[in-house]
Amino acid sequence: MAGENKNEANIFTQYIKSRHSLIKNSKILQTTYIPDNLPHRKDKIDAIVEILAPALNGDKPSNILIIGKTGTGKTAVMNFIGKELRKADPQQENVHFIYINCEVNDTAYGILYSISNQIINNIEENKIPFTGWSLDKILATLTEMIDKENKVFIIVLDEIDRSIQKNGDDIFYYLTTINEVLQKSRVSIIGITNNAKFTELLSPKIKSRLGEEKLVFPPYNVEQLKDILYNRADIAFDTGVLDDDVIPYCAALSAQEMGDARRALELMRISAEIAERQGDPKITSAHVKSARSKIEVDAIVEVIKTLTIQSKILLLGIIKNTEKGLPTMTTGDTYAAYKSVCECIGQSPLTQRRITGLIQELDMLGIIHARIKSTGRTGRTKEIELCIPRDLIEMVKSDDLFKDYKPPTQRTLM
Ligand SMILES: Nc1ncnc2c1ncn2[C@@H]1O[C@H](COP(=O)(O)OP(=O)(O)O)[C@@H](O)[C@H]1O
Ligand SMILES: [Mg+2]
Repeated sequence: MAGENKNEANIFTQYIKSRHSLIKNSKILQTTYIPDNLPHRKDKIDAIVEILAPALNGDKPSNILIIGKTGTGKTAVMNFIGKELRKADPQQENVHFIYINCEVNDTAYGILYSISNQIINNIEENKIPFTGWSLDKILATLTEMIDKENKVFIIVLDEIDRSIQKNGDDIFYYLTTINEVLQKSRVSIIGITNNAKFTELLSPKIKSRLGEEKLVFPPYNVEQLKDILYNRADIAFDTGVLDDDVIPYCAALSAQEMGDARRALELMRISAEIAERQGDPKITSAHVKSARSKIEVDAIVEVIKTLTIQSKILLLGIIKNTEKGLPTMTTGDTYAAYKSVCECIGQSPLTQRRITGLIQELDMLGIIHARIKSTGRTGRTKEIELCIPRDLIEMVKSDDLFKDYKPPTQRTLM
C-alpha cells in the first residue's frame, strides 16, 4: 500500500521534496529492528534452539546463562529465537516465551509484575497491581497464575546484572526454584548479561542453578562486522547508494572499538543521515568520518551533562584560565580558578586534595589532559590542559549552574 496515496501538499512538502532520500527504510537501521538473518551467530542460535526444543513437547529445558560484551547480538538472537518459537507453537499450547529487560524493570516487583502482565496479556485483567503488594503476595499469586496455564514458561531476563546490582539475587533464587512448588507448569530461565564477571555477583546456590548451560558470545571481528553491515545495507539502501569503502571503513572502526555490532550499525546509519541532510547523492567515507566525530562529540556532551556540580565548577575554572591566556596550568592555578568560580556562584569550595581527585577524573573522562612534568629541583607538578571543542566550552558556560556567574572584575590576580 505504501506510496499509493500521495499526500496533499502542506507547509512541510518542500522539505520532503528537497531531501534526497538515501535510506530506503529507516526502521531497518534502528537498534530495535530484529533482522531475520543473523550472520555469524548460527552456532549460538543452534545451540540455544537445541536446549529449548524439548519445551515444545512440554519438557522443561535447562536454564541458560548468556554472557557477552555489548553489541555481540545477545538480545537480537534471543528475540529472533522467541519469534521462531512463537511460530512453532502459534496457539502457545505448550510454550510461553516471555522477554523482560531488567534495565527497564529494575526492581523485583517490576520484573514479577511484567511477567504477570505478559501471562495475562491484558493489563486491565491483571490481578497483580502495578504497585502496593508485598513481594510474598505477588510471588504466590504469580506462581498460581503460572501453574494454571499448564505449560513450559521460558522467561528471558535480559541485562540481568542491572537488577542484581540494585536488588541482590533473591528474585533469581525465587524464579529458579519456582519449579519445586509448581505442579503442572515448568519455568526455564535464560539470563543475559554484558558483565563477564557476573557470576561473581551471584550466591553459589543461584550460580549453579542459573548457569546450567552457559554460552559466551564473543565480540565480532572486522570480517564478521562487514557481513552484518552488508546484510543490513542490502535491505536498508538502494543499490549504488553506498560507496564501496563505506562498509569496510565502518567495520574497521568498530572492530577497533571492541567488535560491537551496535556501534557499527550506528556509524553506518549516522553516515547515511549526514549524507542525506547534506543532499549528497551517495554515502562516502567522508560521511563516515563526520559520523564518527559526531558520535564522539555526542558522547562527551553526555558525560559533561552528567558531571557533578563540583566537577562542573572545576571545569569552568579551567575554561576561565584557558581564556585568560593560560592554555596549560598547574594544579595550583586550577585550584585558584576553581575557588574563584565557587565564590562567584556562592558555593563553598572543596579542599585542594579533593580537587586533585576531580582533576584526575576529568582527565580519565577525556575532558582535560593532565600530565606530570618535572620542574627541576622543586620536583614534579601537573600540567593541565583543556581538550574539548569550542562549542562544548560554550555548552559548559551556559549551564544553568552558572547563570548568575559574574567574573570578578577588579581583582588583577587571583
Ligand atoms: N549477527 C548479527 N547479525 C545482524 N545484526 C546483528 C548481529 N548481531 C548484532 N546485530 C545487531 O547489532 C545491534 C546490537 O545487537 P544486540 O543484540 O542488541 O547486542 P547485545 O544485546 O549483545 O548488546 C542490534 O541492532 C542487532 O540487530
Ligand atoms: Mg542486549
